[in-house]
Amino acid sequence: MNGTETLAASVHVQTFGCQMNEYDAELVRTLLRKRGYAITSDPEGARVLLINTCAVRESAHTRIYPRLHSLVNQKREDPELVVGVLGCMAQNLKEEILLDFPAVDFVCGPDGYRSLPDLIERARVARERGTAVELSEYETYEDIVPTRVEGVNAWIAVMRGCDNFCTFCVVPYTRGRERSRDPEGIVAESQALAATGHVQVTLLGQNVNSYRFGPTDFAGLMERVAGVEGIARVRFTSPHPKDFPDSLLRVIAEHPRICSHIHLPLQAGSNRILHRMNRRYTREEYLKLLDRIRTLVPGVSLTTDIICGFPGESGDDYQETVDTVQRARYDSAYIFKYSERKGTVALKLWRDDVSDEEKSERVTRLVGIQKEISLEKNQERIGRLESVLVEGTSKKDPSEWKARNDSNIIVVFADPTAAVGSFRRVRIVDASAHTLRGEIV
Ligand code: SAH
Ligand code: SF4
Ligand code: F3S
Repeated sequence: MNGTETLAASVHVQTFGCQMNEYDAELVRTLLRKRGYAITSDPEGARVLLINTCAVRESAHTRIYPRLHSLVNQKREDPELVVGVLGCMAQNLKEEILLDFPAVDFVCGPDGYRSLPDLIERARVARERGTAVELSEYETYEDIVPTRVEGVNAWIAVMRGCDNFCTFCVVPYTRGRERSRDPEGIVAESQALAATGHVQVTLLGQNVNSYRFGPTDFAGLMERVAGVEGIARVRFTSPHPKDFPDSLLRVIAEHPRICSHIHLPLQAGSNRILHRMNRRYTREEYLKLLDRIRTLVPGVSLTTDIICGFPGESGDDYQETVDTVQRARYDSAYIFKYSERKGTVALKLWRDDVSDEEKSERVTRLVGIQKEISLEKNQERIGRLESVLVEGTSKKDPSEWKARNDSNIIVVFADPTAAVGSFRRVRIVDASAHTLRGEIV
């Protein structure tokens, strides 16, 4: 696709952020291609640069700002270039971006992508700046088939938005209210993906297990997608602990194609902080759910998200998070430093009173504790036979394969006959905190 010559301008989309943003970039590529634009993977040759942004933590902004600054210089040398900022940061910081970055021609939030062709044309022809930041209660881009990058996995957004309003989180403001897609469209998309050689689909939503369309709940949807011929693995992310009925756990346990991995964001282990976060569960309820999951889905792997240094988090509150992590024995965890987000309740109500240094210390200590647990849990896998799906070659040693087991853990192994997209049975022979080593059997 590099530098394709057509009459229309060529567009490059660069994405920061979560899988939903990757998926949205795929939607944008289809949308623009349909309107005659050429999509290029080479930013150098492109006449339209779209930066698809994330706003979830300060660290996302820290990565995106230098890119926006570099575009200012680029546009100084090439004033005809069109620059658009898409995604969650565009939604959340529309005024600031237009004010601080004169090089930006337009901002377009996650529900505004149908306006992109117009925004681009207005910028190219009339040199007019624009915005498309209306949030929608209905937009699911149902009729747009994403232009997927090749690979074994395909993302499918099954619902968009979030109604939970955790007090730290910007997502309900950047992506609006929850809405689910028709299961018929999702099944048809899965069938088309199977036909083009994708063996794994990951169902996506900011709050994926709140999915509901008419009588179909998330358990029903998973069952239908897992029934699609040719789809060997079904994954999902990101769920909320409030929507895990037994019916969903049974579907995960009983369906061989649904991977035995559940991401169950904890956020904090202190009830006082959980209440402030508006997570709507206590540590006891959360741990009870974890036990229930392990009873109904034996051998399931569990991962989590945790925030350190939320406003008012005392040493004792933090210690309760540490205790909960030790009790929960996750396979792995993403551990973040709290950062204030524009528009959130936490920003309005409380001072960001845990020092940056203290936050970093809390994160580092918890990462160390979880690393030991991850190592122990991975070592328990040594000697087991596992079915792994090959995703590519290993970064460290390109003569070896990088694959993933059912639990979503990376397994590295050598096999001259394997190929990307193939399944192999391996015996686990070694383990680190992040990867397993396998031998072909
Ligand atoms: N919808 C998903 C993902 C939300 S964002 C979910 O509910 O799990 C992913 C993670 O980022 C969250 O789980 C949380 O741990 C973290 N996060 C969100 N806002 C944050 C903030 N203001 N500061 C630090 N971490 C944050
Ligand atoms: Fe944010 Fe909470 Fe919604 Fe997840 S569930 S997107 S953390 S508000
Ligand atoms: Fe970031 Fe928006 Fe995804 S804030 S994490 S790109 S939902």
